[in-house]
Amino acid sequence: MKPVKVGIVGLGTVGGGAFNLLKENAAEISRRTGRYIQVSHVGIRRDSGKYDLHGVKVSQDIFAVVNDPEVDIVVEVIGGTTTARELVLTAIANGKHVVTANKALLAEFGNEIFAAAEAKGVYVAFEAAVAGGVPIIKVLREGLAANRIEWLAGIINGTGNYILTEMRDKGRDFADVLKEAQALGYAEADPTFDVEGIDAAHKLTILASIAFGIPLQFAKVYTEGITRLTREDVSYAEELGYRIKNLGIARRTPEGIELRVHPTLISADRLIANVHGVKNAVLVQSNAVGPTLYYGAGAGAGPTGSAVVADIVDVVRSLSSDNNSYVPHLAFQPNELADTPILPVEAIRTAYYLRLQANDKPGVLADVTRILSENGISIEAILQKPAHEAGTVPVIILTKPVIEREMNRAIGSLEALTDIVAPVVRIRLEALDA
Ligand code: NDP
Ligand code: HSE
Repeated sequence: MKPVKVGIVGLGTVGGGAFNLLKENAAEISRRTGRYIQVSHVGIRRDSGKYDLHGVKVSQDIFAVVNDPEVDIVVEVIGGTTTARELVLTAIANGKHVVTANKALLAEFGNEIFAAAEAKGVYVAFEAAVAGGVPIIKVLREGLAANRIEWLAGIINGTGNYILTEMRDKGRDFADVLKEAQALGYAEADPTFDVEGIDAAHKLTILASIAFGIPLQFAKVYTEGITRLTREDVSYAEELGYRIKNLGIARRTPEGIELRVHPTLISADRLIANVHGVKNAVLVQSNAVGPTLYYGAGAGAGPTGSAVVADIVDVVRSLSSDNNSYVPHLAFQPNELADTPILPVEAIRTAYYLRLQANDKPGVLADVTRILSENGISIEAILQKPAHEAGTVPVIILTKPVIEREMNRAIGSLEALTDIVAPVVRIRLEALDA
């Protein structure tokens, strides 16, 4: 059989990882597909000299790759949403299958891209876009297809988790660890995407769509990053038996779907609380199988190259079969996507960690507990630390779950007390039980 010809656009961390794997594991991959996969064309604006491009057509004009009649599958790994969108839509219009790692592109323009691909009868595969080397897209779309998925919660940004782990374990500075993550090829071109939760929100958008069968709705994800977390909150949380992780959470409720990314306290004895470094993990609660957890490297050349090549293998297998059938892009039939509302953050229900800086005098705690009680908020635990600033003490409170709107009201009243001398710090807390 003729080899399948692949064009790779962008030879950075992911493109280079996929290029190397297709070469190193060529024999093993051909045994799986029954076809030889040949990288026939690469689009790069400058040659880093890191790859042996002997026998491969090289174009500085990246559109030459998607317009090359020889190319069967285009791998888009340049990132961004402008040129990448044009490139992917051109590839589709030219009847080519596409493999991409670009979660920003799919979260923001995926509805348009998948519609174009379906109209043209080609496939857009994106395993590398979420959780790097962890095959979570395949799991949600295929492995759990018998289930109604109730919620999922994931550590889905390796850079952010790497930073949190190094800061907690080694007391290192935020900026210093971020630089290291960039050098290791984990971080996005714009690292604020990693540390402000935007990258995780892109990935959560994709996960929620394929878990619940809803269109991609990135603009409706509530997003908070890790830049405002302090070392003292990390250590008070530890003292109470919790770890802080930046979680992406998607949950069905009777009122609608919660979609949120924010720092979250998780009980230290949960497996997901012990996911460290650049590792990612996604916990999925489904009605038949119950909870399942998927874990592995979330970024870097090897893991993402692995996911890109797995997608290429899927497309090649389908090309070689008689009926060319594909799993639907968003797991559900395109005409079966539901218009379930996405809840605003004020309507979510969660427990909270609160830290108040209070004047050290009688009656303050009584005022605080009265306000919480007036707003229907039950206290789970309370911790008062010795005074560390002249005359004031930190008071840490864990609450039972409450609607965020009610918590906002309570925090407003707490901050209006003259004995509460600083804005209240609030971090959401999740039990992550069934
Ligand atoms: P890199 O920056 O390492 O690589 C991108 C490559 O594309 C670079 O070689 C860059 O060239 C080239 N490029 C960018 N824009 C253009 C353009 N307009 N024309 C020609 N070449 C261009 O990025 P990554 O490999 O890390 O990321 C690629 C994609 O994969 C992104 O969408 C990212 O979000 C996603 N991703 C990344 C992961 C990771 O671990 N790094 C994991 C999962 C997904 P130059 O060197 O000249 O700038
Ligand atoms: N910047 C991303 C991360 C790359 O750190 O998780 C993997 O998607």
